[in-house]
Amino acid sequence: MVRTDVGVAVGADGRIHSVAADAELRRTHPDAELVDCARGVLTPGFVDSHTHAIFGRARYEEQEMRAAGVGYLEIAKRGGGIHSSVRDLRERSEEDLVALAAERLRRLAAHGTTTIEVKSGYGLSLESELRTLRVIRRLATELPVRLVPTFLGAHEVPLEYRQAPRTRTEYLDLVIHEMLPAIASEGLARFCDIFCEPGVYTTEESRRLLTAARAHGLALKLHADELENGAAAELAAELGATSADHLAAISEVGIAALAQSGTVATLLPGTMLFLGRPRQAPARALLEAGCAIALASDFNPGTSPTVNFPLVLTLGVSQLRLSVAEAFVAATVNGAAAVGMAAELGQLAPGYLADIALFDVADHREIPYWYGDRRCQRTWVGGRAAHTP
Ligand code: NIG
Ligand code: FE
Repeated sequence: MVRTDVGVAVGADGRIHSVAADAELRRTHPDAELVDCARGVLTPGFVDSHTHAIFGRARYEEQEMRAAGVGYLEIAKRGGGIHSSVRDLRERSEEDLVALAAERLRRLAAHGTTTIEVKSGYGLSLESELRTLRVIRRLATELPVRLVPTFLGAHEVPLEYRQAPRTRTEYLDLVIHEMLPAIASEGLARFCDIFCEPGVYTTEESRRLLTAARAHGLALKLHADELENGAAAELAAELGATSADHLAAISEVGIAALAQSGTVATLLPGTMLFLGRPRQAPARALLEAGCAIALASDFNPGTSPTVNFPLVLTLGVSQLRLSVAEAFVAATVNGAAAVGMAAELGQLAPGYLADIALFDVADHREIPYWYGDRRCQRTWVGGRAAHTP
């Protein structure tokens, strides 16, 4: 819903008290500190429900390789892709990773994002996955942005488990029997995710891991049907996952399964754009079937190095054929649902967390329209200034 000529009253508890006409707010909150938004547009801060923001070096060389015809999974088979980020991250200290990620998360926040789900998944060993999650925990206290930690120890099968005598099953056992209990006992993650994709993890392996994760009290997410169909969306629905993400290769059966579940369909159009793939997720078919759609950046060094959430909105409208209203709902209300926080996040409404973004535009439709620009002027998280000019 779009409202004009209103302001937002925020309480000392960091929540929204009311959204009302200026004069009324001045009357009901006579002592409030005033912030003049100069007739810009206020939105709920974006909820970016899918990022891989903890990594070392950028992987710009792979962009050119793909342009020359080498596919994403082929690069991984040659030891590049996720493996190259794993080699790199394992060498880095916690301090180094905190510094790199803080800078990148600030860039995401500068575009209007106030909540960021952050996955591990470039460690792929007990020690380096724990280090990654501790980095996220530290950043959550140091940065003025909400972070939601996700354990993605099953992002790939690490290279050292691909040659005899070691096996991929041994790695999955390590994830299930050592990593999960350690993470759960330290309370380091809210979600467990897996790259369920032909050539990466099978649906059987995914079911095994996610069932164990659920028993440890973690909520579930899947990288599902990203590049090729593997009935991963069906598995997400079956397991009651909070979200099934990517879905560019989802089938009709998968769409029907998601529509009958409470699982959010999280679409990441920046990834398909950056990979140069012709097929985007079937957003309209998902909506027509009755699915809830979230949009997210998938910020990561391999397939989506964008920090620009408004650009994701642009792609939502121009590539996924969403209306602007559908794109905003996907970036806020449904993003909040995709991190399990829909009851208190993603809306400018009384009782909701005061996570707000101010844009230097006269009409909200300009936010996806000026594509690639940065119109976000300020953000607040829990009523406190977060991004400032
Ligand atoms: O969401 N698909 C798996 N994970 C990421 C890419 C990770 C990488 O290439 O480093 C994704 O696309
Ligand atoms: Fe991803």
